Amino acid sequence: CGIVGYIGHREAYPIILKGLKRLEYRGYDSAGIALYDGKDIKLSKTKGKVADLEQQLEQQITTNGNLGIGHTRWATHGVPNDINSHPHYSNSGNLVIIHNGIIENYDSLKKELIKRGYTFKSDTDTEVLINLIEDVMIKEGLKLGKAVQVALNQVIGAYAIAVFDKNKPNEIVVARLGSPIAIGVGDGEFFIASDASPFIEYTKNAIYLEDEEMAIIRKNKDLKIRKIKDDSLVDPYIQELQINLEQIEKGGYDHFMLKEIFEQPNAILDTFRGRLLTDKAIIKMVGVEDNMKKFLNANRIIVVACGTSWHAGLVSEYIFEDLARIPVEVEYASEFRYRNPVINENDVVIAISQSGETADTLAAIKLAKSKGAFVFGVCNVVGSSIARETHAGAYTHAGPEIGVASTKAFTTQITVLTLIALRLARAKGTISSSDFRHHLIELELIPEKVKKALESDNYVKTIAAIYKDVKNFLYLGRGYNFPVALEGALKLKEISYIHAEGYPAAEMKHGPIALIDENMPIVVIATKKGHYEKVVSNIQEIKSRKGKIIGIVTEGDKHVKELADHVIEVPETLECLSPLLTTIPLQLLSYHIAVMLDKNVDQPRNLAKSVTVE
Ligand code: G6P
Repeated sequence: CGIVGYIGHREAYPIILKGLKRLEYRGYDSAGIALYDGKDIKLSKTKGKVADLEQQLEQQITTNGNLGIGHTRWATHGVPNDINSHPHYSNSGNLVIIHNGIIENYDSLKKELIKRGYTFKSDTDTEVLINLIEDVMIKEGLKLGKAVQVALNQVIGAYAIAVFDKNKPNEIVVARLGSPIAIGVGDGEFFIASDASPFIEYTKNAIYLEDEEMAIIRKNKDLKIRKIKDDSLVDPYIQELQINLEQIEKGGYDHFMLKEIFEQPNAILDTFRGRLLTDKAIIKMVGVEDNMKKFLNANRIIVVACGTSWHAGLVSEYIFEDLARIPVEVEYASEFRYRNPVINENDVVIAISQSGETADTLAAIKLAKSKGAFVFGVCNVVGSSIARETHAGAYTHAGPEIGVASTKAFTTQITVLTLIALRLARAKGTISSSDFRHHLIELELIPEKVKKALESDNYVKTIAAIYKDVKNFLYLGRGYNFPVALEGALKLKEISYIHAEGYPAAEMKHGPIALIDENMPIVVIATKKGHYEKVVSNIQEIKSRKGKIIGIVTEGDKHVKELADHVIEVPETLECLSPLLTTIPLQLLSYHIAVMLDKNVDQPRNLAKSVTVE
């Protein structure tokens, strides 16, 4: 979910509305706004997109007020409908709340409140929280800030909240545990949001609340940050924001996803910057250098991640083992954290996350830390929870990724992990200096080769037109390109809703082969380096069952071209770098199919960019 708020001297409505549009990638089941002009609260909410809310509000908004909060939701408790949408009122109608996260003990709290006479309109945990705050206020005669604090100390779960009280027209109270809150600090005015994107045109100064912190924000006053647990005051740390407006707008592309696909050559260059020093034949990564001992003494590396980031982790397994000869296990963060894993101080855990906010990954990190492991983060969002929770890390520097289906985050994650593996291989001596240098030179060429791979766009579009109406797709790859097959299938599923499976090519005969008939398109990654002959045999097996073959091949390939129905070429590179190129046509294929099917590419149904619930 995304939350946004404003208090100051400007009209709150346009700021909140635009902010919600920027945050919509975080969740878009429903949206709502509450505005307060010191006399009346105007609250509107609806199932659907921010645009639906805007339409609904067009007729209603006349005067606005200088205080407002807004929310865009990804449903956890209660189906997405108007009533369950945020903001929520307390029973008296004096308090208004927006909430991102989940209150785990809401049921027992709700029963208690019902006993005390409270009634509930929605099925949400959020309405329980706001009534709990109200109950504390009334029962203990407390002001809003204090009551929020007392209530939050009774709550189990995760939250980012913003609350205001009708009796306090110049104040908003916010608090966080597990879900991010950024506060933009202007001149006598404050902006509140899940990330800084809603306010970057107004101020470059931001404060990121830490877990278990709350802030009392008053117009024309200094803001006060307190620890929720012990009420101690915290000195606000104001950071200067590095992002600019251009980075978070579509810049001429039809969709963010397409923009982000085409940004990959530059994004990878940004990942290299200051790290890949080919002339000097070195790789420099501060987080790795500072902790070299830990890496070199590691018995093994355990990668924890979810979704696309997990696929990047799988690619890294091949790289780390192949180049640095360190055993690697790749785990879904959600499984790792719940199965009493064997882990100790000689393990290095690498947590990969674009958003840096994924709840399961964060919990896996905390578990690994509690067992004494050294935890290294690979995140895209600077200052995110995972970036802060890990002992050290390396940012991907891909820039903001807005499209829900991850693209440039994936390739830059692989880039960072490749740099780390090469650096460790050099330090361990598992790679010769000439081979190392060769890898650096090849790596340096990748951005240009990604550009070349992107030239297949038009051709991929024609393939998309042929297969857009099928019900099932199969993706096959081996070795380094097996995870790419998984990622290709995931991309298609996510945005076109076509069922797709990724498989190691050789495993096809143990199951998926039963699905193959003349209607089944099969994307096979068959680049020259990497079990080429074996993959060609797999292609033969498909062909004899009349499956339709879309080959992803190395430039100039002849053999697969003869067998396949279509081939998409990518430039030649080292086997270990090939995922950075083979991924590109698969991203484009899913993109064009989804566009042709008229799906919402940037905001696919039921998904969210940043999953801050378990
Ligand atoms: C969600 C997103 C995916 C992403 C996954 C992990 O499911 O829709 O695109 O791969 O979360 O997110 P993270 O931010 O941790 O990489």
